[in-house]
Amino acid sequence: MKTLFTGIKQLLTFAGENKPRAGAEQRETGLVENAAVLIEDGIISAAGPRRTVENLPGADGADTVETGGICLPAFTDCHTHAVFAEPRLRDFSMRTSGATYAEIKQAGGGINSSIGAVRRASYMELEKKLLRRASRFIESGTATIEVKSGYGLDRDSEIKILETVRSASQKTELSMIPTLLSAHAVPPEFAGNPEAYLEYIEKEIFPYVSEKKLAVFADIFCEKGYFTPEQTKKYLEAAAAYGFKLKAHTEQMCRSGGTIAAAHCHAVTVDHTDYCATEDIVTMREYGTIPVLLPASNYFLGLHKFPPAREYIQAGIPVALATDFNPGTAPCLNMQFAVSCACINCGLTPEEALCAATVNGAKALCLDDRGFIAPGMRADLAFFDCEDYRELAYFFGGNVCTRTVIAGKTVYEA
Ligand code: NIG
Ligand code: FE
Repeated sequence: MKTLFTGIKQLLTFAGENKPRAGAEQRETGLVENAAVLIEDGIISAAGPRRTVENLPGADGADTVETGGICLPAFTDCHTHAVFAEPRLRDFSMRTSGATYAEIKQAGGGINSSIGAVRRASYMELEKKLLRRASRFIESGTATIEVKSGYGLDRDSEIKILETVRSASQKTELSMIPTLLSAHAVPPEFAGNPEAYLEYIEKEIFPYVSEKKLAVFADIFCEKGYFTPEQTKKYLEAAAAYGFKLKAHTEQMCRSGGTIAAAHCHAVTVDHTDYCATEDIVTMREYGTIPVLLPASNYFLGLHKFPPAREYIQAGIPVALATDFNPGTAPCLNMQFAVSCACINCGLTPEEALCAATVNGAKALCLDDRGFIAPGMRADLAFFDCEDYRELAYFFGGNVCTRTVIAGKTVYEA
């Protein structure tokens, strides 16, 4: 089965070495004007100038689609909390009346207020919600998302979330990479005793999730009022012993030391990193830890502080970008908005932001088969109704995706 997508005004291939792109490399888009992409059996076989690709012998007999617009590697959204039961509208009303994230938590909102509905929800209800969201990710040009647990916070509910991800994966083309985030907050049953809760996770949740291969990564929220850097280190070491790859939410609301703790455990990514200081940047570089920017959460919380992304790029650290889609801090699943926000608020150029959302997003999930457009890569493509790729960051707040192709198949067409 062969398909030729042609008449692409601008194709951004990001072709290059199969590794995270850092420093000046993060601006190399591999732009081709008037381009085409040839796909065979779900894999890219050629990409380049229209005439060159159309004249390849391999293009004979291919289904031809005139697309216009621009084409990118479909987005890899490497940080989401896409399994939740209810939006947090009470938190939202409090916030719009001036309350902070910490004050909302104090008043009984926050992460723990999401667990009741998740614990009560049947597995079928959660699956239905996740599948509806999966369609919306696809419609926005995303082919792969990471999905965290973390709104169950007891053994059965956390497993229910991860099993939901597994079963939903059979029913959508969206590729979903599961992460165990039981260390998202201390649940009421362990109030005031985070150590005991972490021990419970290690004894009761790690063995089952690891044996059933229900999660690729383990993650923890290292933050004042949640878990400390010392707890983070101990927990991540235990997770690594069970075979999980590692991630951590660090320095989101203040500088607590989670970035260094996570890097020392060889975490693949540290996410948020708003309050990172020079020492954290030096450590990330030394350990090859990728910072994941989540500026949609800063936007939604009305924060004016954003991660020092320019310093990361200047230091030669590859930067990734994700939506953080979740009911508390980022009810946004559109990577186009994250790209715009990364440009406006984190000082990335459109080229750097798009690289962060594609190649480096895939690397943040340790995926080597996607993220850029080159022969041999999975054919995950997103097409947008733009004349110039910079419009993706410029016309913000909408969805200009016209077609999403996952593993060679058109799964969405506007
Ligand atoms: O990435 N920081 C921790 N986790 C989420 C927020 C979760 C919530 O408020 O429900 C985040 O921002
Ligand atoms: Fe998060």
